[in-house]
Amino acid sequence: RHASTIPPRAEQFTKVTAEHVKALRGLLGSPSSLISTLDGSATVDELVTYNDDWMNKYHGKGQVVIRPKSTEEVSRVVKYCYDNNIAMVPQGGNTGLVGGGVPVHDEVVISTAGLNQVRSFDPVSGTLVADAGVILEAADNYLAERGFIFPLDLGAKGSCNIGGNVATNAGGLRLLRFGSLHGTVLGLEVVLPDGTIWNGLKTLRKDNTGLDIKQLFIGSEGSLGVITAVSILCPRRPKAMNVAVFSVESYEAVQQVFAEAKSHLGEILSAFEFWDAQAYDVVRHHKAEVGEEVRKVFETEGPFYCLIETGGSNGDHDEEKLGNLLEDLVTEGKVLDGVLAQDSTQFAGLWTLREGIPEACGKTGSVYKYDVSIPVKDMYSVVEKVRLRLRENGLLTGDGQAEGPIKACVGYGHMGDGNIHLNVVAPKYTDEIEAAIEPYVYEVVSELRGSISAEHCLGQMKAGAVHYSQDKNSLDQMRRIRKLYDPKGLMNPYKFIL
Ligand code: FAD
Ligand code: MLT
Ligand code: ZN
Repeated sequence: RHASTIPPRAEQFTKVTAEHVKALRGLLGSPSSLISTLDGSATVDELVTYNDDWMNKYHGKGQVVIRPKSTEEVSRVVKYCYDNNIAMVPQGGNTGLVGGGVPVHDEVVISTAGLNQVRSFDPVSGTLVADAGVILEAADNYLAERGFIFPLDLGAKGSCNIGGNVATNAGGLRLLRFGSLHGTVLGLEVVLPDGTIWNGLKTLRKDNTGLDIKQLFIGSEGSLGVITAVSILCPRRPKAMNVAVFSVESYEAVQQVFAEAKSHLGEILSAFEFWDAQAYDVVRHHKAEVGEEVRKVFETEGPFYCLIETGGSNGDHDEEKLGNLLEDLVTEGKVLDGVLAQDSTQFAGLWTLREGIPEACGKTGSVYKYDVSIPVKDMYSVVEKVRLRLRENGLLTGDGQAEGPIKACVGYGHMGDGNIHLNVVAPKYTDEIEAAIEPYVYEVVSELRGSISAEHCLGQMKAGAVHYSQDKNSLDQMRRIRKLYDPKGLMNPYKFIL
């Protein structure tokens, strides 16, 4: 991100000193829960993983990182910062894609990495209560041992935290099946900006006693407090899972396959993802895990690919349904080619073709990421329009692949949720490229009556563009809520709703 686009440091925030660091350290049970360049307990390099984001696009200058080990420690630290006008940024696994979890200037990083215990699990209701810093994959592994599944799955599962997932209202690969976190989260524990602990960690499915406060924190991007624990409803793990990938001849055909899949598979459809040929090329060249058997899997390749996953309780029953779908798709000529995973290695390999796209784009270059919701019939047009725009600006000379300064311009996403990801992969981040894409891409989305953020949120990246998707009245209400919770504006400043 260029210095010219970074908002100036707000002078009302206190500059943290070695004295503050000493006092903060005194609030923690273990001295190693705080590292800082101000007292020499860390070097600048050791803070890089907390200051730089996953894309290496946003670079903060935080000098203090605190990793409390309990909610009480979070509370003491936050209260101290609040009383001393010190700005803070909550951070989970730092896998966010909009620069929301890293400092902009010298905000103190409050990491949830030390809050990593499962608190309870009820196998009758399927309710899991866990600390916010539990890694998503660890939570899912814990549930798998008990025959349950976490109702969220995404490519960053090995690093992202469940608190970060809630703070970003992450969507992921199975929202189609399990719904949004607004439905599955039953309760939260949050340390509010003044250090007060709000114990809203309920485990009830039904509770109509007043406003549903937890909903405010789901997708609040660390602006209303630090989420310290999550209570969430988890379904039974499907006993049988299948995955099939198809090449198809047009975006129109992707839609037809989607309609057929819903009609044939009904309740066992657990994911419907799609990607274009340009994304396919990037992923198979850059993901080592894409083994030879899936690297060249289709005899007939196409401009689009779609992945269908089923998850049910009766394998024979699911296979019969999937078989009927495949037969119909082939007989009616709706697909060019297809492959059904024959074993667990191929199951994972086929998923890598889709899940591996973000990482493969990252290995190819510096990625401008757009994550938008658009009514499904028009969804892919945003990719076509941006390609045209890049060509008009002399930035792209091929069809979205490796010619011209842009290395790739790819589209992929969660078809079942009306959510497409557009990645423009450049040799490096430059003002020229950014100016060619933004705000053009937001104008296109707004004209198509879409949302400029389907799941990655606003963070630093889209804080100034939110008016493309929200009207003044809605924004005023959000600002009032933010002010109510955080009158000093200390929680995750310079981001989200300004
Ligand atoms: P961070 O990156 O650490 O923080 C994200 C935001 O949440 C920041 O604003 C931060 O301040 C705030 N925050 C974090 N923890 C807390 C807390 N405990 N309390 C309050 N605020 C907090 N996202 C999707 O929606 N769907 C996807 O399919 C998806 N796939 C991804 C695949 C890859 C390879 C990568 C790198 C990212 C992907 N993401 C996806 C984005 C990202 O993983 C999610 O946004 C994730 O939920 C962030 O979790 P985190 O713990 O890494 O949060
Ligand atoms: C995905 O669906 O793969 C994620 O949202 C990450 C991304 O778009 O890069
Ligand atoms: Zn996504």
